[in-house]
Amino acid sequence: MSTWAIVVAAGRGERFGMTHGEPKQYLPLGGRRVLDWSLEAATAHAGGVVLVVPAYAVDRHEPLASAVVAGGQTRSESVRAGLAAVPEEAAVIVVHDAARPVPVPAVWDRVLAAVAAGADAAVPAVPVTDTLREVGGDTVDRQRFVAVQTPQAFRAEALRRAHASTGEGTDDASLVEAAGGRVVVVDGDVANIKITSAVDLLLAEQLCR
Ligand code: CTP
Ligand code: MG
Repeated sequence: MSTWAIVVAAGRGERFGMTHGEPKQYLPLGGRRVLDWSLEAATAHAGGVVLVVPAYAVDRHEPLASAVVAGGQTRSESVRAGLAAVPEEAAVIVVHDAARPVPVPAVWDRVLAAVAAGADAAVPAVPVTDTLREVGGDTVDRQRFVAVQTPQAFRAEALRRAHASTGEGTDDASLVEAAGGRVVVVDGDVANIKITSAVDLLLAEQLCR
């Protein structure tokens, strides 16, 4: 069963802000760039990796990627651009945020095992630790929620079907679910942080040591 990965790195990193004219995925982390860590994890678990980057970066040499394509205005558009470059023969596709560089091989193993066992999609999640309050409303029970991470693994056909219409979801699993697919939640890892603001990069420096 052939597995491909899509690493989405086409965001503008607006919450982080630009440093040296580059968005967060191109910033240095442990002697290389943030996205190199994410690409390395992907190459360890997939036979081929499509890297999705901002249009201005599409000609950069990316030796860890099998193909480099330009992304879109939204994350879903970027995933669709990546999907178009994944060979038809791929049976399983894993989508991973370039902005999650800390290596968590066990999480990759868990999502891939769940899809191999028959799920249409498998997403890693961790408990929410902060108290949640609805803006302008009341505190909500955090036990009812989990925080979803990437890598997310999919039966290729389910992911392609979910993206056949131009739906928008903050993640691909919600699109698969909306299309009637079976989504399984597996344990994520609290070390699998997403770099959103400057403090996350400091933490990633420690975690990537
Ligand atoms: N992403 C993408 N294309 C987009 C938007 C996001 O490929 N149009 C990617 C980002 O590069 C990142 C991942 O999706 O690796 C998760 O998105 P997020 O952390 O929100 O990154 P940004 O959208 O770049 O940041 P922000 O929302 O702060 O602008
Ligand atoms: Mg974003």
